[in-house]
Amino acid sequence: MRFLVLGSANIDMVFSVDRIVNPGETISSRTLFRNAGGKGANQSAALAKAGADVSFAGNIGKDGIWLLDKLSSYGVDVSLSNVSDEGFTGQAIIQVDDSGENAIVLYPGMNRNFTEEHIDNVLNHFSYGDYLVLQNEINLVDYAITEAKKQGMRIVLNPSPFDSEIEKFPLDLVDIFFVNEIEGAKLLNEVCDDYEEMARKLSVKFISSSIIMTAGSNGSYFAEKGNVIHAEAEKVTAVDTTGAGDTFTGFFLSAISSDRNAEDALRIANRAAGIAVSRKGAMEAIPNIKAVFQSKN
Ligand code: RIB
Repeated sequence: MRFLVLGSANIDMVFSVDRIVNPGETISSRTLFRNAGGKGANQSAALAKAGADVSFAGNIGKDGIWLLDKLSSYGVDVSLSNVSDEGFTGQAIIQVDDSGENAIVLYPGMNRNFTEEHIDNVLNHFSYGDYLVLQNEINLVDYAITEAKKQGMRIVLNPSPFDSEIEKFPLDLVDIFFVNEIEGAKLLNEVCDDYEEMARKLSVKFISSSIIMTAGSNGSYFAEKGNVIHAEAEKVTAVDTTGAGDTFTGFFLSAISSDRNAEDALRIANRAAGIAVSRKGAMEAIPNIKAVFQSKN
């Protein structure tokens, strides 16, 4: 089976700051890097680096062709992406502070210019049992879910960044949700005592879906039909948390598609995300599978 990531590609402009700027304030950045990013592109890179067969269908401007070249160099098939001269590639303005925490402003650019025709053409290349991996940085997510489900694809949704539109998506068609604790709380629309309870309640609310929840230093959770599995986080010094969730998603999906059980998949994905946060950047920080397994020895 194959993975199709229908999602965003961004040019990440990364500013290293002592702390995240306050409203009305001006501060200086120590460095500025232009990195490859975007949740869709990062998750494609993570899937490929984890060893999966993955296609990335993105929508970019000519200024972003280097992003596709980079994905290709990791083994991602980018032939279903659209390069247009009608607009710019998405951009992310990212502040990373001394503790590795970040704050991001997104300019969607061509990421929000998908057409139904492009999506139909892309889906034609996939069939029953293949995975469609979606995030919330592009338009027509609801359309993609509905059409892909009609042809028997497995739907994976990472509802990030979370907005009120997500509640209008056909969420009952989603097979696997990837959320962090903030997205989980918004999806549940309820206050919980702890993360385990949140994961359990989400898996009851979405009774036909698997829930995978990341909770930073509190590790990650897998829940189905009210049963929850927890895996501890790796102990690492965070340098840059950008893209850690994308790394986790790619490695988890690759692991379960190779018949690993959920517990193993959580551990592998935690390890991969742990390495990613100890490096700078988003896509460039994603380790390959060899580094993930070596890290345990
Ligand atoms: O998940 C990390 C990504 O979010 C960054 O690469 C940035 O582009 C934003 O989309």
